Amino acid sequence: MTSHIQNRNQLIWQLILFLAISFEAFEVPLTLTFGLKVLPWQLFLDGIFSIVFSLDLYLNFKERKKLKKKNKLQNSFIIVLDLLAIIPFDLMGGEVNVLNILSAYKLIRIARFIPILQIIFGVQNITAVPTWLKNIFGAVLTLILVHWISCIWIILEPVHGKNLDNVSNYVKSLYFTTTTLTTIGYGDITPTHTISRIFTMMIQILGVGLYGVVIGNVSRLLTQADRYKEQSKNKIQDLQAFFKHYAIPLATQKEIFSYYEHLITKRLSDNDHMIISQLPTPIQKELQIYMSIKLINNIPFFNRSGAECMRKVAQSLEQEHYSPGDYIIKIDDEASEMFIIGHGEADVTLADGKVVAHLTEGEYFGEIALVESRRRTANVVASNFCDIYKLKKDVFLDLIKSYPKLLDEVQQTIDARKGIKKN
Ligand code: CMP
Repeated sequence: MTSHIQNRNQLIWQLILFLAISFEAFEVPLTLTFGLKVLPWQLFLDGIFSIVFSLDLYLNFKERKKLKKKNKLQNSFIIVLDLLAIIPFDLMGGEVNVLNILSAYKLIRIARFIPILQIIFGVQNITAVPTWLKNIFGAVLTLILVHWISCIWIILEPVHGKNLDNVSNYVKSLYFTTTTLTTIGYGDITPTHTISRIFTMMIQILGVGLYGVVIGNVSRLLTQADRYKEQSKNKIQDLQAFFKHYAIPLATQKEIFSYYEHLITKRLSDNDHMIISQLPTPIQKELQIYMSIKLINNIPFFNRSGAECMRKVAQSLEQEHYSPGDYIIKIDDEASEMFIIGHGEADVTLADGKVVAHLTEGEYFGEIALVESRRRTANVVASNFCDIYKLKKDVFLDLIKSYPKLLDEVQQTIDARKGIKKN
């Protein structure tokens, strides 16, 4: 199992594994609890999952070997687990029921959840897993937990399911689990013997814990949003007092406020700057690379060229700030770099001042002179406060040499831009 999600494809692969294991995590306890017969489509899926897990083992073989050197015992365990997970138990005619001790083997596949979750919720990802996806994972895991508790309850308390068909029995148990986990506990379904009483107590404690985690997370999100608002409110009040004290002219006040608004919208508060600046230089550089990757992730032509290309670009980017009206590029100047807008907007103008294009966040410019080895073909002027990322000429030319796809894409943009100019 890889410890990093290097790019989108790996994320999709982890998603497929997650779906496969989630399916097993629902199916296996259900079959075990009700002693259900394995149907042909389940056999088919069993075979497919075995192929998926074998493929995963094969794809990550080298990575595992590297890891093995670092932590031998843990990784040997993971490899054994992975190997066992490949065996198609259903296809081999294994009977899944509570009495067949061998069927517990099927649970091994589910143990593979752990490394996947480490990757998905890990912090070392290059392509960050979006929060909404993490929330979906969280929701699926909660459902699986509820499902497992319900199944165990049915096994422990068959008396509650007497004379009921499987569906009603399951729904009844689900009802018991949710009322207990949410600490509502109507008390209409109660344990009848010691083991199930102990089990119920454990669910109750788990319920309180889960409740705490959910409430804690929600309030953390709210206070965090408030913290930003509170900070900016305080800052604006400080600024107003300062302007009043020194009788700052209105025009300057407006300019400062608009710059401050720019800082707030891009969320790079003083605090963030402070946090970054306090870190050791190599980590600052590493952070800068991740921040740059986030930026160039939005730029289709870099994005499509793969993780390695993006990392190269990110390592070479340099940041600059411009105020409204500043010239980023002057027509007819010599060209030594291309630019990407990280935040803000800029106008492309011709010698007569005519605006031919308006560029926004994530767009790039300054490529024509580099590709065609000529002087700048237009002015580019910041129309508000801009954070611009520069990519040096030699790095850019090197990149388009190594990634021919990039050159095609840039050429398409150049053609389109020249077309716009002609009209
Ligand atoms: P370059 O000629 O190096 O410097 C000026 C830049 O402005 C140019 O590269 C393009 O990136 C950009 N540019 C020129 N014309 C247009 C246009 N019509 N639309 C968008 N961008 C343009």
